[in-house]
Parts: sequence; C-alpha cells; structure tokens
Amino acid sequence: MDEEKKIVLVVACALIDADGRVLISQRPEGKSLAGLWEFPGGKLEAGETLEEALVRELKEELDIETKVACLAPLTFASHAYESFHLLMPLYVCRRFWGIPRGVEGQAIKWVRPKDLRDYPMPAADEPLIPFLIDLL
Ligand code: C5P
Repeated sequence: MDEEKKIVLVVACALIDADGRVLISQRPEGKSLAGLWEFPGGKLEAGETLEEALVRELKEELDIETKVACLAPLTFASHAYESFHLLMPLYVCRRFWGIPRGVEGQAIKWVRPKDLRDYPMPAADEPLIPFLIDLL
C-alpha cells in the first residue's frame, strides 16, 4: 500500500554545456531499469548533503569536477515506483571541469532539451523534461 512505501532520496543533475545541451546517461546492464537514459546522480552517503553527494557522484560516474556553489536547484521528481517512492531533487550544473565520460562503462549523450523525449527514461525522470525546456 502507498503509505507503507519507503521514501528513497536520489539526487540528480542536469549537466548543461555551452550549447545548451543536457547530458544523459544510460543505465548499464545489471542495474535496475537497464538501458533507460537518466539524469546522472545517485543516493546520499552518511553525513553528506545533497550537493556534496552530487559532486561525488559526478566525479564517480562521469569523471568531472564541480563544486557545491556550481549546483543550482531546479525542481524535483516525486514518483511512486512499485516498491518505493522516489524523491529526486534535480540540480542544474553549467560549470564543471573535465570532459564527461562513462566511467562505469555507460553510454552518455549530450541532447537538446526538446529532443530528450526521444530517449526512453525512468518514469520519474520524464516529468523533469519540461522544466529543462523552459529553462533552456
Ligand atoms: O541509481 P540507483 O539504482 O541507485 O537509483 C535507485 C533507484 O532510483 C533506481 O532503481 C531507479 O528506480 C530510481 N532512479 C530514477 N531516476 C534516476 C536515478 C534513479 O528513477 N535518474
């Protein structure tokens, strides 16, 4: 039942390049929702703030450096998955150092916001697209 679902907090980022494109990352085989394209991010570790967790995840997943001050909150997703309820704040980051690469072997892509719908995404991520279209 809905009220028994655990709330899972995952922090995500719309990384934006100088051309106004957004980076999406394909969930690798073996993970849940494999093959779907998502905004990069992940769960918090003990003692981390949302922003610290995102800076760490962007380094781990994409090998880029950024700073807490370079992350601006945009909106959030609140989605009832079958077995848990996902709460996912979405930050925007336009300032980062390094060239993103899929450290975990995942495919990545820079996509214009209006084209994001061409990429199958987890249900929680899809409602975030209009916010990016409005922003960019
Ligand atoms: O990435 P991870 O598997 O740790 O994320 C936990 C869950 O959060 C995923 O199984 C997925 O259901 C959801 N998620 C999502 N959109 C993202 C990241 C995670 O829906 N961008």
